[in-house]
Amino acid sequence: MLRVAVMVSGGGTNLQAIIDAIKAGEVTNTELVAVISNNADAYALERARQNGIEAVVVSPKSYETRDEFNDALLEKVNSLNVDLIVLAGFLVKIPEKMVHEYSHRIINIHPSLIPSFCGKGYYGLKVHEAALEKGVKVSGATVHYVDEGMDTGEIIFQKAIEVEDGDTPEILQRRIMEQAEWKLLPAAINMIANKEN
Ligand code: GAR
Repeated sequence: MLRVAVMVSGGGTNLQAIIDAIKAGEVTNTELVAVISNNADAYALERARQNGIEAVVVSPKSYETRDEFNDALLEKVNSLNVDLIVLAGFLVKIPEKMVHEYSHRIINIHPSLIPSFCGKGYYGLKVHEAALEKGVKVSGATVHYVDEGMDTGEIIFQKAIEVEDGDTPEILQRRIMEQAEWKLLPAAINMIANKEN
């Protein structure tokens, strides 16, 4: 069984997609051991509790320095004894020490076709605002391994989604979530959980 911790900051629809895919048997050999949020108000925590998954808050606000927060986050993750960390809308940069300790064991979902609309400042709705502003006809989502950079790690899966006339950032975001993100992220976990080493 692949022991997985999911890290979140907000609503947690990607977390929900993972939970549902495990329940439906579309993701196998996988146990969600904890959901970790930097934000105590994240609805994703409620989704975890409703599904009997440990819900943990590690907030930068509780620590005097960023280093102390980073150490607390790593300590919590280490205590869970996980094989894979899934960033599902986690909007905090992963500390370099954690990236090194969990090399090729952290994956992230990003709501664009990397290398477009990614890196510093591109998160959540902002990604879709930028895509519409640029006038791209195709956007999508990417699942990738996390390295020291921002959205620069090795790409696992991508899915293209067409932009349609009249799209608002919210409409485009929803289409990319429904048709790309909620499929790609569970598929990546299933692939990792079942790959022959
Ligand atoms: C998702 O669209 C995810 O791709 C994005 O935040 C949203 C979280 O939604 N992540 C990033 O922008 C990371 N750079 P959710 O909480 O409903 O899963």
